[in-house]
Amino acid sequence: MKRSQHQLAKVYVSRRVPQEGVNLLQDSGICEVTQWDFDETVPRSELLKQVAGAHGLFCLLTEKIDKELLDAAGPNLKVISTMSVGHDHLSLDEIKKRGIRVGYTPDVLTDATAELTVALLLATSRRLMEAVAEAKNGGWGTWKPLWMCGYGLSNSTVGIVGLGRIGIAVGQCLKPFGVKKFLYTDFEPKPDIAAQIQAEYVPLDKLAEESDFVTLHCALTPETQGLYNKDLFSKMKKTAVLINTSRGAVVNQEDLYQALTTGQIAAAGMDVTVPEPLPTNHPLLSLKNCVVLPHIGSATYATRNAMSVLAANNLLAGLKGEPMPSELKM
Ligand code: DGY
Repeated sequence: MKRSQHQLAKVYVSRRVPQEGVNLLQDSGICEVTQWDFDETVPRSELLKQVAGAHGLFCLLTEKIDKELLDAAGPNLKVISTMSVGHDHLSLDEIKKRGIRVGYTPDVLTDATAELTVALLLATSRRLMEAVAEAKNGGWGTWKPLWMCGYGLSNSTVGIVGLGRIGIAVGQCLKPFGVKKFLYTDFEPKPDIAAQIQAEYVPLDKLAEESDFVTLHCALTPETQGLYNKDLFSKMKKTAVLINTSRGAVVNQEDLYQALTTGQIAAAGMDVTVPEPLPTNHPLLSLKNCVVLPHIGSATYATRNAMSVLAANNLLAGLKGEPMPSELKM
């Protein structure tokens, strides 16, 4: 259905998000906004009800945008704008079939996510969580040469799985720590990007075998689902540290648990898990050599504001039929 010039587009925002983005929508004069203005996820039944007849949807990575939702929204829906760079929650085939445009938020969260990756890597390899606990619980006795030792970056080999925006930013952040060699793997060699850190393109097996630190930055796709499994863990160094700030499902968590408890690898730092939140009784949370964070890669105030603003601008451009600042190519 075509809207007349004076009809406002109906937009649904599926969560409380930084106000800057919502203000842009509300002040645009082209849409009327309904919002699930809570920090917790909108119940699925409410989401299905609210999207009915919407022209635009502003959503997060927690909302599954699948056939059921698209059917519930109906033929008015022209734009989906996700406040995330990841888009594995979107059924792109269904979306494409309906001619719906998609906006997402790359670039604005690269630095924050790279920074968090480095923080998690250091916290994991230098055993910060364990050390803080020891300082608090009386485990800190005299200074002991063999106590609380971990692995440093100096002279190390770092393997980057997925040399996209965030992968290369992590490499650049790690370089000044004295990394000896960067390896990377991706769908294809990316010589121009790799040159920034003199990274060598290798197959995944070789990367697993030779890296002291492996950091995962690939998108979740059918090809990368469970990519890090017992086969790869068995190839890794016993002293290796695995870091994942991409998507939890890239790692097979049962195999990771085995690898961590049998000494196949030294430690792991996970900012992403399956499911999220990870239940508090999950076996991974009981391990001293596993640091689990609650998906906070992009969690700086400035980054979340920028994501909200970009998602709003994508949505508005889509509603006006204009080029989006960041449109997902499908
Ligand atoms: C994303 O945007 O996909 C991150 O996982 C959260 O910022």
